[in-house]
Amino acid sequence: MAVPVILDVDTGVDDALALLFAVAHPELELLAVSCVAGNAALEQVVDNTLRILDVAGAPDVPVAAGAVRPLLEPARSASHVHGADGLGGLVLPATSRRPVDESAVELLRRTILAHPVPVTLVALAPQTNLALLLRTHPEVAGNLERIVFMGGSASVGNATAVAEFNVWHDPEAAAIVLDAGVPCYMYGLDVFNRVAVPHERALELEQGEHRAGRIVGALLGHRVALSEDDHAEYTGLIGDAGAVCSIVAPELLRTERRPARVELAGYGRGQTLVDLRDRPGEDLLHGVADEWTPVEIALGVDADAVAALFLDTVVERLPA
Ligand code: BDR
Ligand code: CA
Repeated sequence: MAVPVILDVDTGVDDALALLFAVAHPELELLAVSCVAGNAALEQVVDNTLRILDVAGAPDVPVAAGAVRPLLEPARSASHVHGADGLGGLVLPATSRRPVDESAVELLRRTILAHPVPVTLVALAPQTNLALLLRTHPEVAGNLERIVFMGGSASVGNATAVAEFNVWHDPEAAAIVLDAGVPCYMYGLDVFNRVAVPHERALELEQGEHRAGRIVGALLGHRVALSEDDHAEYTGLIGDAGAVCSIVAPELLRTERRPARVELAGYGRGQTLVDLRDRPGEDLLHGVADEWTPVEIALGVDADAVAALFLDTVVERLPA
């Protein structure tokens, strides 16, 4: 039976890749998509999401607009990575799809509670919608299989030296989600930064005959320069799509169950602290440690195999 999933997105070049994969893969049933401000402003995120679902030839997947900004701070887009339009300047045909007439929180609540088997919630964006959902309707936790989130890092950050963008953008939300009592799987920068498609393959797709392939190639090849002097390098990262791949091919990742928490104060604000120690330290021995939440954390990945899974799925299964 296909795994029922809901994606929470801030589309976003790599959220777009994730949406395409989620629609295409036969072992995933995409029940709904909720949108949140992150890589771009909310209105843009919704529009990008609807257009990408058209490219995917997705049936009528309900899409809802959610939070326009984080719980405490103003929205701070990642336009230097995803471009002003969130899709790196990729022009897609206008869509006749419309968002549903209810909030993201309501769509999430209704969809999760109505589903006959527990749902996997996949967070590929700042977790504002998820935090609002879990605080407003904590009963949804009972019908969630787990939360798979792209976010955090057990090593280096990207938004700051130590904080990853999705967690940094709304640290309070991420802290609420981590402690909501739902099993969490963290697909952080430790693996996110490793799964890439070779440049020649992306170019081949972009210049090929396959319509969805051309869009995937263009998304993979997008580069946004920081300034006129900046030479933006090709990365070919599949980004958020890797988190969705982990659901259908968990054997391609190495995970460890580790205590984690979100730092909310000071220079480390937005950092995911991960306890990688193999022996208890003085904090535990003297009973002065706070309780940290055990999280399944992806620390290793067969990057080539995940990239191949992604490409094979979207090229073979999306409309040519
Ligand atoms: C995350 O932030 C966004 O730029 C990407 O879409 C991804 O979800 C990476 O830090
Ligand atoms: Ca994202």
